[in-house]
Amino acid sequence: MTVTYSTTGTVSSPLDLSQLRGEHTSINLAGDGTKGKKEVKPNVKVTLTSLTVHNSGTLRKLNSVVIPIVYSDKFYKDVLDPTLDDVNKLIYYADIPVGAICCRFENLSKGAKDPPTLVILTLAILAPYRSLSLGSSLLLASLRAALHPTTPPPPIPSDGKINTRASLTVAPPRVKVNRALAHVQVGNEEAKRFYEKLGFKESGIAKDYYSKIEPRDAILMVCEDIASLLGEKTEPNGSS
Ligand SMILES: CC(C)(COP(=O)(O)OP(=O)(O)OC[C@H]1O[C@@H](n2cnc3c(N)ncnc32)[C@H](O)[C@@H]1OP(=O)(O)O)[C@@H](O)C(=O)NCCC(=O)NCCS
Repeated sequence: MTVTYSTTGTVSSPLDLSQLRGEHTSINLAGDGTKGKKEVKPNVKVTLTSLTVHNSGTLRKLNSVVIPIVYSDKFYKDVLDPTLDDVNKLIYYADIPVGAICCRFENLSKGAKDPPTLVILTLAILAPYRSLSLGSSLLLASLRAALHPTTPPPPIPSDGKINTRASLTVAPPRVKVNRALAHVQVGNEEAKRFYEKLGFKESGIAKDYYSKIEPRDAILMVCEDIASLLGEKTEPNGSS
């Protein structure tokens, strides 16, 4: 019998956002651009945290504030899948949870043997914390994890019963995934620009993708080569 399990969750070491335009615009203390000006870059701690049953409520709250869609209990259960631990994250800014990304892997091509696509289900940053590179950091971390899968963290029984080690099956690492897809509601120019800036391309429209919000159509934003988006070389056989 396979017992479902959750993980304790991990917290990343602080992210270095300076590669992505810096967390803050520099402050010129002299104010006039003259010699001797001093620049201050407040160094705010930014970390990524695994999704767990304990912070699932925080994820729900963030999504409900930012995204005009109510996601089901099943959605919030599925995103806790330990094999998605490295692609589904909350982001903390100065220890405050301000955003999150939720993804899953889907085989979208006809050939069953083709590698799956990383589908970005939700990406949300609280409005006061936007344009600080937090959205890019979350997305890039998930893209990196899709391309370089790691072994899922050790399991913790979640069914309340006493389990033996043998009854808990540790999932094997996933295959490398080099393609990503996001749905952006028609009219959401901010999100469309955000994905384009990172290297995603518009690849079509999903008609009536949303059933409860208007407009119902979604723009498909696709990244066909995560490795090159991340500045990594792609080998002739497609691996990086
Ligand atoms: C889309 C979204 C996730 C972007 O999050 P974000 O944290 O603002 O993203 P970033 O800061 O990485 O980049 C956003 C913009 O800020 C700019 N930026 C990043 N760091 C900056 C800095 N230090 N100074 C000035 N601008 C900066 C980026 O270049 C980008 O510019 P653009 O709007 O012209 O593309 C956010 O707007 C959001 O939550 N929107 C609502 C939900 C949504 O639409 N989600 C996407 C569909 S699932």
